[in-house]
Amino acid sequence: MSLLPAHWTSLLQTRALGRAVNHYEHTLTSTNLVLKDMARQGAPHGSLCLCECQTAGRGRMDRTWSSPEGQGVWLSVLLRPNMPVESAPLITFCCALAMTKAVRQVTSLDAKVKWPNDLVLQGKKLCGILLEMGFEAQGYYVVAGTGLNVRRGAYPPELAARATSIEECADIPDRGAIVAAYLAALEDALTAVEQHGFSGIAQDFRRECITLGSQVHVLGADNSFTGTAEDIDETGALLVRTESELRRVLAGDVSVRGVMGYV
Ligand code: BTN
Repeated sequence: MSLLPAHWTSLLQTRALGRAVNHYEHTLTSTNLVLKDMARQGAPHGSLCLCECQTAGRGRMDRTWSSPEGQGVWLSVLLRPNMPVESAPLITFCCALAMTKAVRQVTSLDAKVKWPNDLVLQGKKLCGILLEMGFEAQGYYVVAGTGLNVRRGAYPPELAARATSIEECADIPDRGAIVAAYLAALEDALTAVEQHGFSGIAQDFRRECITLGSQVHVLGADNSFTGTAEDIDETGALLVRTESELRRVLAGDVSVRGVMGYV
């Protein structure tokens, strides 16, 4: 079944997300790029852009994101959050948490969050999140892009050692049901963070975060180190215990790898 809104909007249980503007095109460049244009033209909070196929899907750190036709859920949500811009990185956690819930609800699979913003399943990447921000006189907006691998063809074969898809672990799900569940969970998480900051989702996030308790290798611009990921603080920073100290690692500054492998 295609992701045409008519196929899944009856499942939608949100107040705003995916309601006012629900922009679907079979093929487009990148849902993030299209939605950023829409944001600049004044599209409202909750506007959604989704497609079957991206010709210029983008990942973090200027990487490309493979997005072949019908193989995944490629979508972006426009958020105009009611919280200070310093808290905006927490939206990454909201998206990751929301997608773990949506995947579990629809497929029963226990995907986990790799801090700060990947979903992993059996040690391989299932979903990536790309947040982009824009600033306007009246505030800021966030375009939150999510790429979920649903079928094996979602990622190129050369990534098979590091990437996975739902199809590899469960029946092929109704992608529309995942979109509806994701939007509902994202709206709840965002509201919690707007009201209470990270503590609004901290319990849920710590439970879903596979990084906590793991040995991690932190690759920074200037230095790198190894330690145990002990906790996440109220700003969302990862607290890593090295032999000599507890170090605060900020999302966006670093790449975190499990010492024993990809996760
Ligand atoms: C990552 O590098 O892990 C982030 C990948 C984000 C991919 C999604 S697919 C939908 C949205 N549109 C894009 O161009 N990128 C994001």
